[in-house]
Amino acid sequence: MTAAQPHTAKLIDGKAFALGLRGRVAESVARLKLDHDLTPGLAVVLVGEDPASAVYVRSKHKATVETGMASFEHKLPETTSQEELLSLIHQLNTDPAVHGILVQLPLPKQIDSHAVINAIDPDKDVDGFHVVNVGRLAAGIDGAMVPCTPLGSLMLLKDVHGSLAGMNAVVIGRSNIVGKPMAHLLLQESCTVTIAHSRTRDLPAVVRGADIVVAAVGRPEMVKGDWLKPGATVIDVGINRIAPATPEGKARLVGDVDFAEAVQVAGAITPVPGGVGPMTIACLLRNTVVAACASNGLPAPANLAL
Ligand code: GUN
Repeated sequence: MTAAQPHTAKLIDGKAFALGLRGRVAESVARLKLDHDLTPGLAVVLVGEDPASAVYVRSKHKATVETGMASFEHKLPETTSQEELLSLIHQLNTDPAVHGILVQLPLPKQIDSHAVINAIDPDKDVDGFHVVNVGRLAAGIDGAMVPCTPLGSLMLLKDVHGSLAGMNAVVIGRSNIVGKPMAHLLLQESCTVTIAHSRTRDLPAVVRGADIVVAAVGRPEMVKGDWLKPGATVIDVGINRIAPATPEGKARLVGDVDFAEAVQVAGAITPVPGGVGPMTIACLLRNTVVAACASNGLPAPANLAL
């Protein structure tokens, strides 16, 4: 007799899925140019010199251009006033070549982020952070712009399961960018949804009841293997940089889930890196095409549907 093989979860390849989505975005862009003389355009605004933000903005620009869309970059100094930033937002709101506006966060402290986000035309708010889009999503109204990271996570879940109806989903983290919109999306898919957070009592027991776990807390390797129901699907939104143990060593990226443990219990799991991360930009591009269609009275392309 041979010993039973250790269980290994299916790896959810977000990198491959994102590549496919970007390909579908590029096809839609080509069709819109050909059939409607419409080039979707995305404006990205970066205020200040934060190095991580600068990297994100560069990646967004490159990805936008690669799909055939127009990319408008606006880099403003760290000392920009709120009035100056609001004036740029108003200009972008009225520019017919701009269909999506993204203001990279965080903003310098003299600027009120809420005021800036809520000054964006909700129909150009491709981040889905404007209160109108938050409300549309919560109310289940068509046409909500949905935040990119939860949207990408949902696409991966639907790719694994098809219907999510009736499943128990636990979202760990209650941020406006991930946790709350993720919970609304899962509710819309007819999951039974729990939002857990730093004050939740006996988190491992709560997570053990979940068919779907979405971890978005920003705490490295917090979710352990014995917290999981065997066969659960795990979406790890965390991206945590672990400093090298020695000066010669390399920094390591880990998620909010202890991958080495979880992979032995879960049914399917996203790796970090290569899971949810690549989906975020792909969904930003997707949202921009959908916004461009809506502003021209066209239906969203079928190949970009959820
Ligand atoms: N900074 C970190 N993540 C995000 C995001 O999803 N959108 C914006 N605008 N800024 C961010």
